Amino acid sequence: MAKSKFDFYMDCELLIEAEKDWIKSVLEQYRVSYTRGFIPDEDPLLEFKDPYFSPWDEIVKDLAHLIQCGKLREAVENMPLLDHTKLGGEQDWDRANLVLSAIGNGYVWQNGEDDPVKVIPKCLAVPWVSVAEHSGACPVIGHWNGMLNNWRIKDKTRPLDIDNIDTQFVFTGSKDEFWFCAVTWQLELHAVPGIKSVVAAQKAVTDNNYELLQSCLVTIRKTIEQLKATLERMFEHCHPEFFYTKLRIFLAGWKNYKKFPEGMLYEGVSSKPLQFSGGSAAQSTTFQVFDAVLGIVHPKVEDGQKAFLESMLDYMPRWHREFVLYVRNGPSVRDYVQKSNDNNLKELYNDCVESLIQFRSFHVQIVTRLVQLCLQFSSGGRSAHRSG
Ligand code: HEM
Repeated sequence: MAKSKFDFYMDCELLIEAEKDWIKSVLEQYRVSYTRGFIPDEDPLLEFKDPYFSPWDEIVKDLAHLIQCGKLREAVENMPLLDHTKLGGEQDWDRANLVLSAIGNGYVWQNGEDDPVKVIPKCLAVPWVSVAEHSGACPVIGHWNGMLNNWRIKDKTRPLDIDNIDTQFVFTGSKDEFWFCAVTWQLELHAVPGIKSVVAAQKAVTDNNYELLQSCLVTIRKTIEQLKATLERMFEHCHPEFFYTKLRIFLAGWKNYKKFPEGMLYEGVSSKPLQFSGGSAAQSTTFQVFDAVLGIVHPKVEDGQKAFLESMLDYMPRWHREFVLYVRNGPSVRDYVQKSNDNNLKELYNDCVESLIQFRSFHVQIVTRLVQLCLQFSSGGRSAHRSG
């Protein structure tokens, strides 16, 4: 009797699962979780272990309210300069990245697009830059600190899923913002089978293991299709106009920004202003890793500068960036498939590329809606700013 599609997928899963030890050993080197992918393996801390850092906890707990009543700037300016070297383990450093980026972007954009601050005070700038350097990321809100680490589980007896998490902070206090973060987070969780398959696919090439490679390509394609389905849920509860008029500005950075073209002055850190892009899912390691395993290459340099997607690597924590490089430098799945002269493998590889095209085409539709809103608003003299 011919195998059902379900049985075939089960076989693929089993073949990949058989490589668990290898996959885990690779992923662990880059702080990528076998069960959660780029979402931290241990639930993010809800408070710092040491109450010395409670001034940061207190502000972030009340962030949306402080922004709403225009008091965040005052609260930040009255914050003590805490000694970040007293941070304990990695979870505390990760929390510091989350908390200071939330406070920092809230501080800059509290009064909206027309009244940003251009100087970040020393009590925020010094620890913020230091904790960002510790992780190898940047002192600005980003996909890693603002999405992947910005959650808490509601009920520990139930599985991790979109309906069992809450955010740790939001800028606007709106449910739309929660949904924006939660869908992005869910996408990363749904990416896990694909991420495991990326590692296993390269092992399959090295071992000349046809069945394993076939299973990995099937799983990568299925995963990307699932990611598109998850992205389709974005506007169920996050209204595009809310995103454009309320949330977008809090995710903005200070690179090539016309209001302050030199960038932001981080007091006590550098006498020259620094430039950083805002938060964007373009900083997601997931998509860079899928591109890498399929041999899809984007331009690295444009106009003598790092091209946009390449520059997004700088906003990942060091360990995730190194994982992208590991996959890029690994055995080429594309070459193997091409040389194999096997039509089935070629078809499976092409299906993966096609699913990425479909994901990106759908994503472009989202961006188009944003551009349309931007055009509507720009008649009132406002400017668009990157984020997504
Ligand atoms: C309201 C929802 C979203 C909007 C308005 C949006 C908008 C954008 C925009 C404008 C860009 C261009 C780069 C930039 O300016 O930052 C971008 C890039 C990108 N976004 Fe989104 N985005 C949204 C949600 C998502 C989600 C949930 C994901 C996946 C987790 C995602 C994945 C990407 C990727 C991978 C890129 C880089 C370009 C590429 O690889 O094709 N976006 N997004």
